Amino acid sequence: MYKLIAFDAYGTLFDVYSMGQLAEEIFPGHGQALSLMWRDRQIEYTRLVTMSDPNPSGSKYYLPFWELTIRSLRYVCKRMNLDLRESDEKRLMDQYAKLTGFNDSLKVLKAIKDKGIATAILSNGSKEMLATVVESNGLKPYLDQVVTVEDVRLFKTAPQAYELLLKAFPVKKEEILFVSSNAWDALAAKWFGFEVFWVNRLGHPYEEIGEKPNFEGNSLSKVLEVI
Ligand code: LAC
Repeated sequence: MYKLIAFDAYGTLFDVYSMGQLAEEIFPGHGQALSLMWRDRQIEYTRLVTMSDPNPSGSKYYLPFWELTIRSLRYVCKRMNLDLRESDEKRLMDQYAKLTGFNDSLKVLKAIKDKGIATAILSNGSKEMLATVVESNGLKPYLDQVVTVEDVRLFKTAPQAYELLLKAFPVKKEEILFVSSNAWDALAAKWFGFEVFWVNRLGHPYEEIGEKPNFEGNSLSKVLEVI
């Protein structure tokens, strides 16, 4: 029996690829590519920051995820030769702050709470951006804690980031089910020692390294079938 179900935030509870629609409005013909490259660059920056100074007391290169998100947007626009006006950057980031949740996010969290199991987010996101997106989606009453790597200044997939859950809750590693739609995150959480549910909405292949996740499903709702 799991005592805690912990969710990744961006891409798992909140739909980052919905940014593509607004990006398409601003840069017709480029929205899809921009949103994919933006996401990749954002994650790449978290890895650069973490790996270049994997100090247990925090990377000296740490910048909040919000800031990395802006910087990666600027980079990708330059790379694609798109002129990012200040007002467009603001529009995109305002939407990022209030990303919509997937349509089953709230229902799943509520059902887990109804079973008496603790719930959390474990995210690379900065405190303020997570508080805003959790609030705007009405998820706050169904989350026991929102845990962010801001406390260790090392991004996932550093083990110190996953360890935050063990510090935040009086549970053992194996009593945690970690849920992520990011295969790299699912893989690293498994390496860390959690049981893992990979939400594979798009039918992508899993990574070619590491152990397979304990569970895989094409929606968040499928998590309810294994707890
Ligand atoms: C997160 C991103 C990486 O919420 O999805 O941690």
